Amino acid sequence: MGLPRKDVASLRRLAAAICSLLLAMVAQAAADPYAAARLDMVRTIEVIARKAGGGATPTTLDAGVLEAMRRVPRHAFVPTSLRGLAYDDRPLPIGYGQTISEPYIVALMTDLLRLPPHSRVLEIGTGSGYQAAVLAELGHQVYSIEIVPALAGQAATRLSGLGYTTVHVRRGDGYFGWPEAAPFDAIVVTAAATQIPPPLLEQLNPGGRMVIPVGAAFLVQQLMLIEKLADGTIRTEALLPVAFVPLTGGQ
Ligand SMILES: C[S@@+](CC[C@H](N)C(=O)[O-])C[C@H]1O[C@@H](n2cnc3c(N)ncnc32)[C@H](O)[C@@H]1O
Repeated sequence: MGLPRKDVASLRRLAAAICSLLLAMVAQAAADPYAAARLDMVRTIEVIARKAGGGATPTTLDAGVLEAMRRVPRHAFVPTSLRGLAYDDRPLPIGYGQTISEPYIVALMTDLLRLPPHSRVLEIGTGSGYQAAVLAELGHQVYSIEIVPALAGQAATRLSGLGYTTVHVRRGDGYFGWPEAAPFDAIVVTAAATQIPPPLLEQLNPGGRMVIPVGAAFLVQQLMLIEKLADGTIRTEALLPVAFVPLTGGQ
């Protein structure tokens, strides 16, 4: 005794739906073999934020920032030999003694900038270009300075190759900022300074925010949030201990 005809038709429809879903998954994995790992990375960031947050450090990160991190292909910003580790929540070496920062820290620093749409953002320490790409993915104009000439060149080529046309990379000492492109709505410094560079404070718009690790090189530093109030007053707040490579150059 066979199944009634309408049950056979339903089973066929179900089988067809499962097949198309599987085909779509295979096609997506072939197009972007890192897509699943990237989603896992963002889930890990959300878990870390819930555990590590508190006080001035958010426990839930801005949904737009997380969405941007779901889109930026971090594997394209690390050396080919390290691509298998690209979506682990850890910094990785990028050559010249420098690193691409831990994804949670990139998400946190971006979140802390509280950027209004279409902001002009200055980044000190382009490195691989990953942080700049996350900011560009959010729709901002990014001005990024890197002191190691080879890294500046590689990051500029990588970013334009990936279609990030709103990132401007320049080789130079970020301690002095980018006066010709100032003022900026926000500044993110991704290397540890021994003091807050006065030129960066000058180049920040009133109402703007800066996030910067401050402390001795090769020791634990404090991630600082700097706010320039509407009347120009500077408010600083120490948020959490971090470990960044040092800001070098003529400070
Ligand atoms: C932790 S890495 C930056 C990671 C980077 N934001 C990324 O997404 O890959 C710090 C970078 O700051 C750069 N740097 C150090 N001192 C600098 C300075 N005075 N001006 C500009 N860049 C500097 C280093 O060469 C290094 O590439």
